[in-house]
Amino acid sequence: MKNKKPLKIGVVGCGYWGPNLIRNFRQQNNCVMQICCDQDEDRLKRMKELYPEVETTKDYHELVEAGIDAVALATPVSTHYPLGMEFLKAGKHVFIEKPITRSSEEGLALIRQAKENNRILMVGHTFEYTAAVNKIKSIIDSGELGDIIYISSTRVNLGLLQNDINVIWDLAPHDISIISYLLEKNPVSVNAQGRSHYGKEHEEVAMTTMNYDNGTIAFLHTSWLDPNKIRKMVFVGSKKMLVYDDISPNEKIKIFDKGIEKPDYYDNFGEFQFSYRYGDIYIPKIDEYEALGAECGHFLDSINNNTTPRSDGWSGLRVVKIIEAANKSLRLQGLSVPVEYENEAR
Ligand SMILES: NC(=O)c1ccc[n+]([C@@H]2O[C@H](COP(=O)([O-])OP(=O)(O)OC[C@H]3O[C@@H](n4cnc5c(N)ncnc54)[C@H](O)[C@@H]3O)[C@@H](O)[C@H]2O)c1
Repeated sequence: MKNKKPLKIGVVGCGYWGPNLIRNFRQQNNCVMQICCDQDEDRLKRMKELYPEVETTKDYHELVEAGIDAVALATPVSTHYPLGMEFLKAGKHVFIEKPITRSSEEGLALIRQAKENNRILMVGHTFEYTAAVNKIKSIIDSGELGDIIYISSTRVNLGLLQNDINVIWDLAPHDISIISYLLEKNPVSVNAQGRSHYGKEHEEVAMTTMNYDNGTIAFLHTSWLDPNKIRKMVFVGSKKMLVYDDISPNEKIKIFDKGIEKPDYYDNFGEFQFSYRYGDIYIPKIDEYEALGAECGHFLDSINNNTTPRSDGWSGLRVVKIIEAANKSLRLQGLSVPVEYENEAR
């Protein structure tokens, strides 16, 4: 946006993730990374060492006084709603890290406030901005995989145990947002089972199943108690299969021309035979770029053009609804729980 004034950005939360947002906003052309905030003095000292030109404060109210246009929140989930609401009411555009809120009521309230004030509300579903996920989207949309029969996702590692949320709230927003973005569909029901061993309340390992109205099924294995760090998704289609390994540096996506052929006609059961196809495996080229940079740029473009972001408040709310249903199912030992979405127009 050449003719627009650069947008002034504030970031609240300079713990593990916030500094990545600060770094990426600094690299955008059409904005000034003006001020960052954290309650922890040491984190602010560190930010000052890294980015001397960025103002720092312990009090987030000072961001409004500093005249920012937009804020990005990288604070714990319990703070997303109160902070987001305060900044929206102050007339600021708001970017909130995933998950958007800790309840669907809070998410809906933020969406309504953003609408009332005509402000942009975006959620940090980072994977929707990765080159790999967008490549997979173009492959699925082209029909190369055929109908998606099932998806299996593994997002496991050792730690970091969180004391206010369970592993589904922490890790599954990524899988859910990726799958919703790719399929352009939301599950009608969810089942989940899990276990908490170290904490009393919050499951450290969980298996969530998402069921779609067309028969597609998605399994999400999330864990903080695993010896290996795995970030892998398998898409099994009626024509081909695709494996997405986010940790692999050069072979993130592999397409397997494998499948099962079912004969159209047969005269009797003796003649009924499936045949298994073992074809080529290929690795499509991906144009790598930093997803977070694309995500920050998209937020700024959405503000400048007054357009709806790809991962808007509604998409954040849908993820929260699915996680709420999964948590309900956890308490019911894995019974199926329907997911009900809002009817409000986007
Ligand atoms: N998109 C991604 O891939 C990704 C990755 C990691 C974390 N996250 C998300 O980012 C958010 C933060 O996670 P994290 O791992 O960085 O947490 P963290 O605990 O490392 O950092 C949070 C920081 O917020 C500060 N803080 C808390 N309340 C505050 C307040 N009221 N005012 C000012 N500062 C305050 C804390 O002092 C802390 O430094 C979470 O929502 C998390 O889910 C997203």
